[in-house]
Amino acid sequence: VATGVRQLKVIGIGAGDPDYVTVQAVAALRKIDVFFFVDKGDDKSELRQLRHAICARHITHDDYRIVEIDDPERDTAAPYGEAVRAWHAERVALWAGALTTELSEGQSGAFLAWGDPALYDSTLRILDDVRADGGLEFDLEVIPGISAVGALTARHQIPLNRIGHSVLVTTGRKLVEEWEDGRRDVVVMLDAHCSFLQLPDDAATIYWGAYLGTADEILISGTIAECGEEIARVRSEARAKKGWIFDTYLLRSLR
Ligand SMILES: C[S@@+](CC[C@H](N)C(=O)[O-])C[C@H]1O[C@@H](n2cnc3c(N)ncnc32)[C@H](O)[C@@H]1O
Repeated sequence: VATGVRQLKVIGIGAGDPDYVTVQAVAALRKIDVFFFVDKGDDKSELRQLRHAICARHITHDDYRIVEIDDPERDTAAPYGEAVRAWHAERVALWAGALTTELSEGQSGAFLAWGDPALYDSTLRILDDVRADGGLEFDLEVIPGISAVGALTARHQIPLNRIGHSVLVTTGRKLVEEWEDGRRDVVVMLDAHCSFLQLPDDAATIYWGAYLGTADEILISGTIAECGEEIARVRSEARAKKGWIFDTYLLRSLR
């Protein structure tokens, strides 16, 4: 029986293309005894299958286990901040329980984070609280991954920033208020409502990408005036067809 501290890795697996998995991530995958897959229980089973496929493709032994952790439902009726806090606390308790019962001291466990673990991903925050509130000791290593932002700019063949300019990365929920702040280069993630259509500036260029790095990838670019409505239509058709969508865009206003 192994003794010592539990070893945990959070491994970024890239935002879609299986080839986005880095050599460092592959080396880490091969050292893991137990993978913890967080089951969202929604239509994104494709993402779950991709995690299984990544393990099957890169791990050259079969001496590992996969443990699924159910993701609790978020209370959509409660105010957003409150609902997210309650949801987070529930996840901390579930993860602490799973780590305690499924991973022995001295063993290595891993969470596979979509894209890069540092960008709009709660794995690191939850593990921090598992350590602080759950009192569970572990050593942690984080393996970076190719994010949707990197995938988007590569596929549109554009730099993320203009020389000497800053870039804001934000969510659909905050775009309108932050745009009025005078921002001119903005990456938007997690936007379920095509918030770019609410902007006062339809001369801005949008570089939009859905399902980046996958066989279903869609790319559209042009000014919001030219292609904003088209993006909204294509987005809603694709979402209806597949049951889910992941899309990201960069807005650039030259005014
Ligand atoms: C919870 S965040 C996770 C981001 C991830 N950690 C990363 O580094 O890209 C999910 C959001 O990322 C973006 N995203 C992730 N993968 C994507 C893809 N393949 N194509 C387009 N957008 C993607 C979408 O905006 C989606 O709503």
